[in-house]
Amino acid sequence: NEIYLAGLGGRIPDLPITAAGLAERAQAELSAEAFAYIAGSAGAERTAAANLAAFDRYRLLPRPLRGTTGAAARDLSVEVLGTRLAAPVLTAPIGVLELVHERGEVVVAQVTAELGIGTVLSTAASTPIEEVGAAADAWWYQLYWPNNDEVARSLVQRAQAAGAQAIVVTVDTPALGWRPRDLELAHLPFLRGQGLANYLSDPAFRATLPVPPEESDDAARAAILAWVGMFGNHALRPADLQRLREWTDLPIAVKGIVVADDARAVVDAGADGVIVSNHGGRQLDGAVAALDQLGPVVDAVGDRAEVLFDSGVRGGSDVVVALALGAKAVLYGRPWVYALGLGGAAGVRQALRALLGELDVAIGFCGFARADAVDRSAILLP
Ligand code: FNR
Repeated sequence: NEIYLAGLGGRIPDLPITAAGLAERAQAELSAEAFAYIAGSAGAERTAAANLAAFDRYRLLPRPLRGTTGAAARDLSVEVLGTRLAAPVLTAPIGVLELVHERGEVVVAQVTAELGIGTVLSTAASTPIEEVGAAADAWWYQLYWPNNDEVARSLVQRAQAAGAQAIVVTVDTPALGWRPRDLELAHLPFLRGQGLANYLSDPAFRATLPVPPEESDDAARAAILAWVGMFGNHALRPADLQRLREWTDLPIAVKGIVVADDARAVVDAGADGVIVSNHGGRQLDGAVAALDQLGPVVDAVGDRAEVLFDSGVRGGSDVVVALALGAKAVLYGRPWVYALGLGGAAGVRQALRALLGELDVAIGFCGFARADAVDRSAILLP
Protein backbone atom coordinates (compact mmCIF):
# COMPACT_ATOMS: atom_id res chain seq x y z
CA ASN A 1 0.00 0.00 0.00
CA GLU A 2 2.78 2.36 0.94
CA ILE A 3 4.40 1.97 -2.46
CA TYR A 4 1.14 2.56 -4.33
CA LEU A 5 0.32 5.59 -2.19
CA ALA A 6 3.78 7.03 -2.81
CA GLY A 7 3.23 6.43 -6.52
CA LEU A 8 -0.06 8.31 -6.39
CA GLY A 9 1.81 11.20 -4.81
CA GLY A 10 4.14 11.18 -7.79
CA ARG A 11 7.05 9.72 -5.84
CA ILE A 12 8.82 6.75 -7.32
CA PRO A 13 11.48 4.71 -5.52
CA ASP A 14 15.11 5.70 -6.04
CA LEU A 15 16.17 2.17 -6.76
CA PRO A 16 14.63 -0.70 -8.70
CA ILE A 17 12.28 -2.87 -6.65
CA THR A 18 13.24 -6.24 -8.09
CA ALA A 19 16.42 -8.21 -7.48
CA ALA A 20 17.04 -8.34 -11.24
CA GLY A 21 16.60 -4.58 -11.48
CA LEU A 22 19.11 -4.03 -8.68
CA ALA A 23 21.65 -6.27 -10.40
CA GLU A 24 21.23 -4.39 -13.66
CA ARG A 25 21.58 -0.98 -12.00
CA ALA A 26 24.62 -2.23 -10.05
CA GLN A 27 26.30 -3.37 -13.23
CA ALA A 28 25.85 0.08 -14.69
CA GLU A 29 26.82 2.10 -11.63
CA LEU A 30 29.19 0.18 -9.36
CA SER A 31 32.88 -0.21 -10.19
CA ALA A 32 33.63 -3.12 -12.52
CA GLU A 33 35.62 -4.74 -9.76
CA ALA A 34 32.90 -4.48 -7.13
CA PHE A 35 30.25 -5.77 -9.53
CA ALA A 36 32.45 -8.70 -10.58
CA TYR A 37 33.08 -9.58 -6.95
CA ILE A 38 29.37 -9.64 -6.04
CA ALA A 39 27.96 -11.13 -9.21
CA GLY A 40 30.75 -13.58 -9.93
CA SER A 41 30.31 -17.29 -9.41
CA ALA A 42 32.45 -20.32 -10.03
CA GLY A 43 33.42 -21.54 -13.49
CA ALA A 44 30.82 -21.10 -16.21
CA GLU A 45 28.37 -20.00 -13.51
CA ARG A 46 26.05 -22.93 -14.24
CA THR A 47 25.31 -23.55 -10.59
CA ALA A 48 24.50 -19.91 -9.99
CA ALA A 49 22.02 -20.09 -12.90
CA ALA A 50 20.67 -23.44 -11.68
CA ASN A 51 19.95 -21.93 -8.25
CA LEU A 52 17.55 -19.46 -9.86
CA ALA A 53 16.12 -21.93 -12.39
CA ALA A 54 15.27 -24.36 -9.58
CA PHE A 55 12.75 -21.90 -8.17
CA ASP A 56 10.94 -21.97 -11.50
CA ARG A 57 10.16 -25.65 -11.07
CA TYR A 58 8.05 -25.19 -7.95
CA ARG A 59 4.65 -23.57 -8.18
CA LEU A 60 2.66 -22.06 -5.34
CA LEU A 61 -1.02 -22.86 -4.78
CA PRO A 62 -3.08 -19.70 -4.12
CA ARG A 63 -5.83 -20.12 -1.48
CA PRO A 64 -7.67 -16.80 -1.49
CA LEU A 65 -10.69 -17.99 0.50
CA ARG A 66 -8.99 -18.72 3.80
CA GLY A 67 -9.31 -15.28 5.33
CA THR A 68 -5.57 -14.66 5.33
CA THR A 69 -5.26 -11.96 2.70
CA GLY A 70 -5.96 -8.92 4.91
CA ALA A 71 -2.67 -7.55 6.21
CA ALA A 72 -3.84 -7.70 9.84
CA ALA A 73 -4.46 -11.41 9.51
CA ARG A 74 -0.80 -12.37 9.34
CA ASP A 75 2.15 -12.87 11.65
CA LEU A 76 5.48 -13.45 9.93
CA SER A 77 7.53 -13.82 13.09
CA VAL A 78 9.53 -16.98 13.73
CA GLU A 79 12.00 -18.32 16.23
CA VAL A 80 15.12 -19.82 14.66
CA LEU A 81 17.95 -21.35 16.68
CA GLY A 82 16.58 -19.52 19.69
CA THR A 83 16.55 -16.13 17.95
CA ARG A 84 13.21 -14.34 17.61
CA LEU A 85 12.81 -12.63 14.21
CA ALA A 86 9.99 -10.45 12.85
CA ALA A 87 10.16 -12.48 9.61
CA PRO A 88 11.99 -15.65 8.53
CA VAL A 89 14.82 -13.71 6.90
CA LEU A 90 18.44 -12.95 7.78
CA THR A 91 20.97 -11.19 5.64
CA ALA A 92 23.55 -13.74 4.44
CA PRO A 93 27.16 -13.33 5.56
CA ILE A 94 28.96 -11.35 2.86
CA GLY A 95 32.68 -10.71 3.11
CA VAL A 96 34.64 -7.60 2.14
CA LEU A 97 31.66 -5.24 2.11
CA GLU A 98 34.10 -2.32 2.04
CA LEU A 99 34.27 -2.89 -1.73
CA VAL A 100 30.77 -1.41 -1.91
CA HIS A 101 30.41 0.66 1.27
CA GLU A 102 32.92 1.79 3.86
CA ARG A 103 30.60 1.07 6.81
CA GLY A 104 28.77 -1.83 5.17
CA GLU A 105 28.46 -4.21 8.09
CA VAL A 106 27.31 -1.48 10.48
CA VAL A 107 24.72 -0.21 8.00
CA VAL A 108 23.30 -3.69 7.51
CA ALA A 109 23.30 -4.30 11.25
CA GLN A 110 21.34 -1.10 11.85
CA VAL A 111 18.80 -1.64 9.09
CA THR A 112 18.12 -5.27 10.01
CA ALA A 113 17.71 -4.25 13.67
CA GLU A 114 15.22 -1.58 12.61
CA LEU A 115 13.23 -4.15 10.60
CA GLY A 116 13.42 -6.82 13.30
CA ILE A 117 15.10 -9.40 11.07
CA GLY A 118 18.45 -11.12 11.51
CA THR A 119 21.91 -10.56 10.12
CA VAL A 120 24.88 -12.90 9.88
CA LEU A 121 28.31 -11.27 10.18
CA SER A 122 31.05 -12.72 7.97
CA THR A 123 34.50 -13.66 9.25
CA ALA A 124 35.76 -11.78 6.19
CA ALA A 125 34.12 -8.57 7.37
CA SER A 126 35.57 -5.11 6.96
CA THR A 127 34.47 -4.02 10.46
CA PRO A 128 35.60 -5.55 13.76
CA ILE A 129 33.13 -7.89 15.47
CA GLU A 130 32.59 -5.62 18.47
CA GLU A 131 31.52 -2.62 16.39
CA VAL A 132 28.97 -4.67 14.51
CA GLY A 133 27.72 -6.26 17.72
CA ALA A 134 27.08 -2.81 19.18
CA ALA A 135 24.93 -1.83 16.18
CA ALA A 136 23.09 -5.11 15.59
CA ASP A 137 20.16 -6.64 17.35
CA ALA A 138 19.48 -10.23 16.25
CA TRP A 139 22.80 -11.36 14.81
CA TRP A 140 24.83 -14.51 14.30
CA TYR A 141 28.55 -14.85 13.64
CA GLN A 142 29.78 -16.75 10.58
CA LEU A 143 33.05 -18.60 11.12
CA TYR A 144 35.50 -19.45 8.39
CA TRP A 145 37.35 -21.88 10.62
CA PRO A 146 41.01 -20.95 10.38
CA ASN A 147 43.90 -23.33 10.36
CA ASN A 148 44.74 -22.30 13.90
CA ASP A 149 42.41 -23.24 16.70
CA GLU A 150 43.54 -20.48 19.05
CA VAL A 151 42.44 -17.93 16.48
CA ALA A 152 39.21 -19.82 15.77
CA ARG A 153 38.38 -19.94 19.45
CA SER A 154 39.20 -16.28 19.92
CA LEU A 155 36.94 -15.20 17.04
CA VAL A 156 34.06 -17.29 18.36
CA GLN A 157 34.42 -16.09 21.92
CA ARG A 158 34.70 -12.45 20.84
CA ALA A 159 31.48 -12.89 18.86
CA GLN A 160 29.70 -14.41 21.84
CA ALA A 161 30.95 -11.63 24.13
CA ALA A 162 29.76 -9.05 21.59
CA GLY A 163 26.24 -10.49 21.66
CA ALA A 164 26.07 -12.99 18.77
CA GLN A 165 23.19 -15.40 19.26
CA ALA A 166 24.49 -18.30 17.15
CA ILE A 167 27.64 -19.44 15.36
CA VAL A 168 27.41 -20.35 11.67
CA VAL A 169 30.32 -22.50 10.48
CA THR A 170 30.71 -22.26 6.71
CA VAL A 171 32.19 -25.53 5.47
CA ASP A 172 31.99 -25.06 1.70
CA THR A 173 34.95 -22.68 1.48
CA PRO A 174 38.15 -24.46 2.57
CA ALA A 175 39.59 -22.51 -0.37
CA LEU A 176 38.06 -19.92 -2.66
CA GLY A 177 36.25 -21.31 -5.68
CA TRP A 178 37.56 -20.86 -9.22
CA ARG A 179 35.92 -17.52 -10.08
CA PRO A 180 36.79 -16.30 -13.56
CA ARG A 181 35.28 -12.82 -13.17
CA ASP A 182 37.53 -12.20 -10.19
CA LEU A 183 40.53 -13.69 -11.96
CA GLU A 184 39.98 -11.62 -15.09
CA LEU A 185 39.74 -8.38 -13.19
CA ALA A 186 42.84 -9.33 -11.17
CA HIS A 187 40.65 -8.78 -8.21
CA LEU A 188 42.52 -9.61 -5.02
CA PRO A 189 40.88 -7.67 -2.18
CA PHE A 190 42.18 -10.02 0.48
CA LEU A 191 45.73 -9.58 -0.71
CA ARG A 192 45.27 -5.85 -0.31
CA GLY A 193 44.28 -6.59 3.27
CA GLN A 194 40.57 -5.94 2.74
CA GLY A 195 38.10 -8.07 4.65
CA LEU A 196 40.62 -8.76 7.42
CA ALA A 197 39.18 -6.56 10.17
CA ASN A 198 38.15 -9.57 12.28
CA TYR A 199 41.72 -10.86 12.11
CA LEU A 200 43.69 -7.65 12.46
CA SER A 201 41.68 -6.83 15.59
CA ASP A 202 42.17 -10.30 17.05
CA PRO A 203 44.61 -10.79 19.94
CA ALA A 204 45.21 -14.48 19.16
CA PHE A 205 45.96 -13.67 15.52
CA ARG A 206 48.20 -10.76 16.45
CA ALA A 207 50.09 -13.01 18.85
CA THR A 208 51.19 -15.08 15.83
CA LEU A 209 52.81 -12.03 14.17
CA PRO A 210 56.41 -11.08 14.92
CA VAL A 211 55.62 -7.37 14.47
CA PRO A 212 52.27 -5.51 14.72
CA PRO A 213 50.84 -4.91 11.23
CA GLU A 214 50.60 -1.15 11.84
CA GLU A 215 54.35 -0.84 12.23
CA SER A 216 55.37 -0.78 8.56
CA ASP A 217 54.29 -1.78 5.07
CA ASP A 218 56.36 -4.94 5.41
CA ALA A 219 54.67 -5.82 8.69
CA ALA A 220 51.25 -5.23 7.08
CA ARG A 221 52.22 -7.53 4.19
CA ALA A 222 53.44 -10.16 6.64
CA ALA A 223 50.08 -10.02 8.45
CA ILE A 224 48.23 -10.57 5.18
CA LEU A 225 50.46 -13.54 4.37
CA ALA A 226 49.87 -14.95 7.85
CA TRP A 227 46.15 -14.67 7.22
CA VAL A 228 46.51 -16.41 3.82
CA GLY A 229 48.24 -19.27 5.60
CA MET A 230 45.35 -19.58 8.03
CA PHE A 231 42.37 -19.11 5.73
CA GLY A 232 40.29 -22.22 5.32
CA ASN A 233 40.75 -25.47 7.13
CA HIS A 234 41.29 -28.30 4.71
CA ALA A 235 41.15 -30.91 7.44
CA LEU A 236 37.81 -29.89 8.94
CA ARG A 237 35.59 -32.87 9.76
CA PRO A 238 32.20 -33.18 11.45
CA ALA A 239 33.85 -34.30 14.71
CA ASP A 240 35.60 -30.92 14.97
CA LEU A 241 32.24 -29.42 15.92
CA GLN A 242 32.76 -31.00 19.32
CA ARG A 243 35.68 -28.63 19.90
CA LEU A 244 33.56 -25.69 18.85
CA ARG A 245 30.96 -26.88 21.35
CA GLU A 246 33.59 -26.60 24.10
CA TRP A 247 34.35 -23.00 23.12
CA THR A 248 30.79 -21.72 23.12
CA ASP A 249 27.34 -22.61 24.36
CA LEU A 250 25.64 -20.75 21.51
CA PRO A 251 23.61 -22.72 18.95
CA ILE A 252 25.79 -23.94 16.07
CA ALA A 253 24.65 -24.07 12.45
CA VAL A 254 26.68 -25.54 9.60
CA LYS A 255 26.41 -23.62 6.32
CA GLY A 256 27.20 -25.05 2.92
CA ILE A 257 25.58 -28.49 3.09
CA VAL A 258 23.74 -29.85 0.05
CA VAL A 259 23.85 -33.61 0.64
CA ALA A 260 21.56 -35.35 3.14
CA ASP A 261 24.35 -37.64 4.42
CA ASP A 262 26.52 -34.63 5.26
CA ALA A 263 23.60 -33.05 7.07
CA ARG A 264 23.19 -36.24 9.13
CA ALA A 265 26.92 -36.29 9.90
CA VAL A 266 27.04 -32.74 11.22
CA VAL A 267 23.85 -33.14 13.22
CA ASP A 268 25.22 -36.39 14.69
CA ALA A 269 28.32 -34.38 15.63
CA GLY A 270 26.22 -31.85 17.52
CA ALA A 271 25.11 -29.15 15.05
CA ASP A 272 21.83 -27.52 16.03
CA GLY A 273 21.18 -26.22 12.54
CA VAL A 274 22.04 -26.84 8.90
CA ILE A 275 22.03 -24.16 6.22
CA VAL A 276 21.42 -25.72 2.84
CA SER A 277 23.54 -23.58 0.53
CA ASN A 278 26.02 -23.81 -2.29
CA HIS A 279 27.41 -20.36 -1.56
CA GLY A 280 25.37 -18.84 -4.36
CA GLY A 281 27.21 -21.02 -6.89
CA ARG A 282 30.53 -19.38 -6.07
CA GLN A 283 32.38 -22.54 -5.06
CA LEU A 284 31.84 -25.58 -7.31
CA ASP A 285 30.57 -24.97 -10.82
CA GLY A 286 28.21 -27.72 -11.90
CA ALA A 287 27.12 -28.37 -8.33
CA VAL A 288 23.49 -29.20 -7.73
CA ALA A 289 21.00 -26.34 -7.24
CA ALA A 290 20.68 -25.75 -3.51
CA LEU A 291 16.88 -25.66 -3.59
CA ASP A 292 16.64 -29.16 -5.03
CA GLN A 293 18.47 -30.50 -1.98
CA LEU A 294 16.44 -28.67 0.63
CA GLY A 295 13.62 -31.24 0.80
CA PRO A 296 16.02 -34.21 1.11
CA VAL A 297 18.02 -32.49 3.87
CA VAL A 298 14.84 -31.60 5.77
CA ASP A 299 13.70 -35.21 5.45
CA ALA A 300 17.06 -36.42 6.77
CA VAL A 301 17.52 -34.13 9.79
CA GLY A 302 14.48 -31.87 10.11
CA ASP A 303 13.26 -33.65 13.23
CA ARG A 304 16.61 -33.17 15.01
CA ALA A 305 17.88 -29.83 13.74
CA GLU A 306 16.63 -26.58 12.26
CA VAL A 307 17.20 -26.30 8.54
CA LEU A 308 17.72 -22.94 6.84
CA PHE A 309 18.28 -22.13 3.20
CA ASP A 310 20.14 -19.80 0.87
CA SER A 311 21.33 -19.57 -2.73
CA GLY A 312 18.95 -18.08 -5.22
CA VAL A 313 16.32 -16.29 -3.11
CA ARG A 314 15.25 -13.29 -5.21
CA GLY A 315 11.77 -12.47 -3.99
CA GLY A 316 8.99 -13.13 -1.51
CA SER A 317 7.54 -16.08 -3.39
CA ASP A 318 10.96 -17.74 -3.30
CA VAL A 319 10.95 -17.46 0.47
CA VAL A 320 7.54 -19.15 0.59
CA VAL A 321 8.85 -22.03 -1.55
CA ALA A 322 11.82 -22.51 0.80
CA LEU A 323 9.53 -22.42 3.85
CA ALA A 324 7.20 -24.90 2.16
CA LEU A 325 10.09 -27.29 1.62
CA GLY A 326 10.88 -27.11 5.33
CA ALA A 327 13.30 -24.21 5.84
CA LYS A 328 12.76 -22.30 9.09
CA ALA A 329 14.22 -19.15 7.53
CA VAL A 330 16.24 -17.99 4.54
CA LEU A 331 19.44 -16.05 4.16
CA TYR A 332 19.19 -13.25 1.61
CA GLY A 333 22.35 -12.58 -0.39
CA ARG A 334 23.29 -10.61 -3.46
CA PRO A 335 20.29 -8.28 -3.97
CA TRP A 336 20.81 -6.26 -0.76
CA VAL A 337 24.56 -6.10 -1.44
CA TYR A 338 23.86 -4.35 -4.74
CA ALA A 339 21.42 -2.06 -2.95
CA LEU A 340 24.06 -1.25 -0.30
CA GLY A 341 26.48 -0.19 -3.00
CA LEU A 342 23.86 1.81 -4.87
CA GLY A 343 22.03 3.51 -2.04
CA GLY A 344 23.68 2.87 1.33
CA ALA A 345 21.31 2.44 4.28
CA ALA A 346 18.30 3.65 2.26
CA GLY A 347 19.14 1.14 -0.46
CA VAL A 348 19.42 -1.77 1.95
CA ARG A 349 16.21 -0.70 3.66
CA GLN A 350 14.34 -0.61 0.37
CA ALA A 351 15.70 -3.97 -0.79
CA LEU A 352 14.86 -5.72 2.47
CA ARG A 353 11.45 -4.10 2.80
CA ALA A 354 10.62 -5.13 -0.75
CA LEU A 355 11.46 -8.74 0.07
CA LEU A 356 9.44 -8.64 3.28
CA GLY A 357 6.50 -6.91 1.62
CA GLU A 358 6.29 -9.44 -1.17
CA LEU A 359 6.71 -12.28 1.33
CA ASP A 360 3.89 -10.96 3.48
CA VAL A 361 1.49 -10.75 0.55
CA ALA A 362 2.56 -14.16 -0.80
CA ILE A 363 2.04 -15.94 2.51
CA GLY A 364 -1.46 -14.48 2.72
CA PHE A 365 -2.30 -15.43 -0.85
CA CYS A 366 -1.18 -18.98 -0.12
CA GLY A 367 -3.70 -19.13 2.70
CA PHE A 368 -1.40 -18.99 5.71
CA ALA A 369 -1.77 -16.66 8.68
CA ARG A 370 1.67 -17.43 10.06
CA ALA A 371 5.07 -17.82 8.43
CA ASP A 372 5.87 -20.73 10.71
CA ALA A 373 2.75 -22.58 9.53
CA VAL A 374 3.76 -22.74 5.85
CA ASP A 375 4.17 -26.36 4.80
CA ARG A 376 4.40 -28.48 1.68
CA SER A 377 0.72 -28.02 0.94
CA ALA A 378 1.73 -24.55 -0.32
CA ILE A 379 3.48 -25.90 -3.42
CA LEU A 380 3.18 -28.21 -6.35
CA LEU A 381 6.31 -30.30 -6.29
CA PRO A 382 8.02 -30.70 -9.70
C1 FNR B 1 29.17 -14.58 -0.14
N1 FNR B 1 28.92 -15.67 0.69
C2 FNR B 1 29.63 -15.81 1.88
N2 FNR B 1 29.33 -16.84 2.72
C3 FNR B 1 29.98 -16.97 3.91
O1 FNR B 1 29.68 -17.88 4.66
N3 FNR B 1 30.95 -16.05 4.26
C4 FNR B 1 31.30 -15.01 3.46
O2 FNR B 1 32.17 -14.21 3.79
C5 FNR B 1 30.63 -14.88 2.20
N4 FNR B 1 30.95 -13.87 1.34
C6 FNR B 1 30.20 -13.68 0.19
C7 FNR B 1 30.47 -12.59 -0.62
C8 FNR B 1 29.66 -12.36 -1.74
C9 FNR B 1 29.92 -11.16 -2.59
C10 FNR B 1 28.61 -13.24 -2.06
C11 FNR B 1 27.71 -13.01 -3.24
C12 FNR B 1 28.39 -14.35 -1.28
C13 FNR B 1 27.80 -16.58 0.41
C14 FNR B 1 26.50 -16.02 0.98
O3 FNR B 1 26.50 -16.06 2.37
C15 FNR B 1 25.29 -16.82 0.46
O4 FNR B 1 25.51 -18.20 0.68
C16 FNR B 1 25.03 -16.56 -1.03
O5 FNR B 1 25.13 -15.18 -1.30
C17 FNR B 1 23.69 -17.07 -1.46
O6 FNR B 1 23.55 -16.93 -2.84
P1 FNR B 1 22.70 -15.75 -3.53
O7 FNR B 1 21.28 -15.95 -3.13
O8 FNR B 1 23.27 -14.47 -3.05
O9 FNR B 1 22.93 -15.95 -5.00
